[in-house]
Amino acid sequence: MLLKQLLLLPCALRTAIAYTTLTDLTLESLALNSNDFSVSNKDGLLAPILIPRVPGTEGIAKVQEHFASFFRKELPKWKFTFQNSTSTTPLSHGKEVPFRNIIVTRDPPWIENEGDVSRLVLVAHYDSKIDPPGFIGAIDSAVPCAALMHTARAIDAALTAKWTAMETEGIGSGGFDGFEEHKGVQILLLDGEEAFVNWQGTDNTYGARSLAEEWDSTVNPALSTFRTPLESMELFVLLDLLGSRDNQQIPSYFKMTHWAYQRIAQVEGRLRGAGHLKAKRDQPLFYESDKKETDEWLGGRVGDDHEPFMARGVEILHIIPGRFPDVWHTKNDDAEHLDMDTVEDWAMITTAFAAEYMDLEGFMQAGAPLKKAAQPRDEL
Ligand SMILES: *[C@@H]1O[C@H](CO)[C@@H](O)[C@H](O)[C@H]1NC(C)=O
Ligand SMILES: [Zn+2]
Repeated sequence: MLLKQLLLLPCALRTAIAYTTLTDLTLESLALNSNDFSVSNKDGLLAPILIPRVPGTEGIAKVQEHFASFFRKELPKWKFTFQNSTSTTPLSHGKEVPFRNIIVTRDPPWIENEGDVSRLVLVAHYDSKIDPPGFIGAIDSAVPCAALMHTARAIDAALTAKWTAMETEGIGSGGFDGFEEHKGVQILLLDGEEAFVNWQGTDNTYGARSLAEEWDSTVNPALSTFRTPLESMELFVLLDLLGSRDNQQIPSYFKMTHWAYQRIAQVEGRLRGAGHLKAKRDQPLFYESDKKETDEWLGGRVGDDHEPFMARGVEILHIIPGRFPDVWHTKNDDAEHLDMDTVEDWAMITTAFAAEYMDLEGFMQAGAPLKKAAQPRDEL
C-alpha cells in the first residue's frame, strides 16, 4: 500500500510543479516568419493544407505527405507514426473508410520505457468536411495544424538544449527537479473529426475514438509509471476553429483545467502587453481568467475530438471559440477569409504556451545565458 502511494506521487503533484515564465526577451525572440503562414506559399506550413482533405481521398493523402515530409526534414528528432483504423460511415455503403491519425512525439533522450513519460499533448484535426463540395476548412482546422507544426519547430532546439544541459549536469540534480526527467511533448493530428452526414451517434470523431480506445487498452510494461499510453497524457490541449477575425474569444470550459487556461491567458496577456500580437482586440482571446467557481461552465456543450479522451479521464484544455466564427462549415471557410494577423497570433500564443509548459526559459534563444544549468554549454 505504501509503495503504491509512493508510485502515485508524481501524478498527484504534477499540476503543482513550478515553472519559469518566459522573459520579455524570450517572447520577443518568438517572432515568426509570415511566409510560413502565407496562403500562397506552397513551401510554407499552411498553404499545402488548404485543399479538400476528406478521409480516404487523394487530397488527405497529399496533406499526410506534407506533414510527414515536414517532420522528416525539419524535425528528425521527433518520432513520427500513424495510428490507422477503418470504419464504415453513413455515406460509405458498408465499405470501410481508412482513418489515419498522425502522432509526433519528442521525449527526453534518456527515456528507455515510454510508459514512464508524461506528456503535454497538442491536438488538432486535419480532415475536412465532405460538404459543401470544395469545402476547405481553413479555420477548421488547417490553421490549428499549421500552428502546431510551427510550435514543434519553434521549441525543438530549446528542448535539445535543455535536455543536453540536464544530461551534462546530472538528471534530477541541480536546478532541475526530478519530474522534468520524464516529461515529453506530443502532437496529434487527428483524422475523421467531421461528420459525413450529421454529428450524431458515431458519425464524428472517427480517428479520436479509435486512438482513445487503443491507448486505453494498451498496457505499458509492468513497473511503468503510467499504466496505459492514455494515462501518459498530462494535458490534452485541443485547438479548433482558429484564424478568423471574428468570434475568436475562448471561454474556460472546464473547472478541472482552469489552471491551464489561466496559464495560457497569462501568456497571451504578456505577449499582448509587449506588443507581439498583431490583431488588435477589445477583449483578450482568453477572457475568462477570473472566472468563479459559481459562474457558468460550458464544458460538455461542444462536441469535438476531446470527448473520447475526456470520457476516459484525460484532462482537457479546449481552445475553441464559444461562439463559432460566421464562416464555420460554409464555403467561406477558405484561405481568403482567414485573418492573417489572427493566424500568426495563434501560432505565437501556442508556441509561448508550449515553451513555458515545457519550462524552456533560458533555452529558447541561441547564445542566451543559461539560467539553470551550472555548467557551460560549450558543446552547443
Ligand atoms: C498506416 O497507414 C500508412 C499509410 O498506408 C502506412 O504507411 C503505415 O505503415 C500504417 N501504419 C500502421 C501502424 O499500420
Ligand atoms: Zn468542423
